[in-house]
Amino acid sequence: MTQPSTNGDNPASSGRTPAQGNRLDPWYDVYADRAHNLRASEIRALFSVVSRPEVVSLAGGMPNLKDLPLDRLAASAEKLIRNHGAQAMQYGSGQGWEVLRERITEVMTYDGIVGADPDDVVVTTGSQQALDLVTELFVNPGDVILAEAPSYVGALGVFHARQADVVHVAMDEHGIIPEALVETIRDVRASGRTIKFIYIIPNYHNPAGVTLSAERRPIIAEICLREHVLIVEDNPYGLLGFHSDPLPAIASYSPEGVVYLGSFSKMFAPGFRIGWAYAPHAIRAKLVLALESAILCPSMVGQMAIADYLSNYDWYGQVKSFRSMYAERCRAMLTSLEEYMPSCSWTVPDGGFYTWVTLPEGLDAKAMLPRAVRAQVAYVSGTAFFYDGTGSNHLRLSFCYPTPEEIREGVRRLSTVVNTEKEIVDMFGTASGNEAGAGSDR
Ligand SMILES: Cc1ncc(COP(=O)(O)O)c(C=O)c1O
Repeated sequence: MTQPSTNGDNPASSGRTPAQGNRLDPWYDVYADRAHNLRASEIRALFSVVSRPEVVSLAGGMPNLKDLPLDRLAASAEKLIRNHGAQAMQYGSGQGWEVLRERITEVMTYDGIVGADPDDVVVTTGSQQALDLVTELFVNPGDVILAEAPSYVGALGVFHARQADVVHVAMDEHGIIPEALVETIRDVRASGRTIKFIYIIPNYHNPAGVTLSAERRPIIAEICLREHVLIVEDNPYGLLGFHSDPLPAIASYSPEGVVYLGSFSKMFAPGFRIGWAYAPHAIRAKLVLALESAILCPSMVGQMAIADYLSNYDWYGQVKSFRSMYAERCRAMLTSLEEYMPSCSWTVPDGGFYTWVTLPEGLDAKAMLPRAVRAQVAYVSGTAFFYDGTGSNHLRLSFCYPTPEEIREGVRRLSTVVNTEKEIVDMFGTASGNEAGAGSDR
């Protein structure tokens, strides 16, 4: 009997014969093929290490909830259950509570989506579920999804689990590059493969930290309409611009060509796990069927609590206070990078949680990570954000959670590791620990 392989692989590569199972899981051979495509994200794998108090974590993307009005939320929750408990504790509509869907259309006006019909909104369990449902609806095994290079690790995990093939499209500091998109569509089709949709994070990109420019938005919408490529526009960070409301969503240019995903996780809090999809009518109808089959309906109590928050609290004022907190932390990150890491380059975000760092040539972020953790700082290797595990010359730093002082200390610690690696590379041409094919875990 063979050992289970560590990378969710197929029987052919593990040498396992059918109907054997393995020592750890006797049901190994019984799983559906797609179950072998499930994989742990590199970020979750880091959790146990980075939660040690002595480690400064610049890795996670958890929103910073220290300024949330918890007393106020507790009072509303009590009132909600006391006055409307029978409804709040009951099943609800599969599409989501109508009152919340109306509030959601108001929130979307900040994204330039004006006049949306609440009937075209589906409430989901976080936007993560919306991503999964859209992928389930459109993707057969082997179909191609286009995604920015790099892209959100949680989306790549869904695409992998649904047996899609992801082809990355180049981006720069203004977001996805229209010419690269046209070329990629042409190349993929020339190779005989089918593109099902393009996945784009237009605002304060996770992990790249950049924003799709105002000029490019209508161009991207137009290319995709012309080429009949559906756009999945994922916008959880849109309201967290440091200086302004977001640019008009791609959906505002092409409502029939875009499934827009929104979330309360970052502009409010992820605890209620409420997100949404705003979709062309026919797609919306299918999304509701897929959602009902997955979970029957989203949490009623969560939806009612969020609708109450949006109706009876100055939620936009709260968003503004989040913005200035994150802006201060971002400044701490950028000034520390300038001071301590001049051998690297990085993106300069206008909002959100992340900056994307490019290491000096020859350095490998994945191989370097254990040495960084030994120096008591953590980040996410760029390899997490590419479907094929490339990207080892990059890392993602998040500034959302630690204090400005911790950020400064974290970057200082990271610089000592980077400088040592660079000295070794300059001297020997390769950093220690790079030999074993680090960076190719998929
Ligand atoms: C780009 C992006 N999309 C979607 C999600 C999922 O968010 P939710 O909490 O709404 O499921 C995240 C969470 O970090 C994200 O960064």
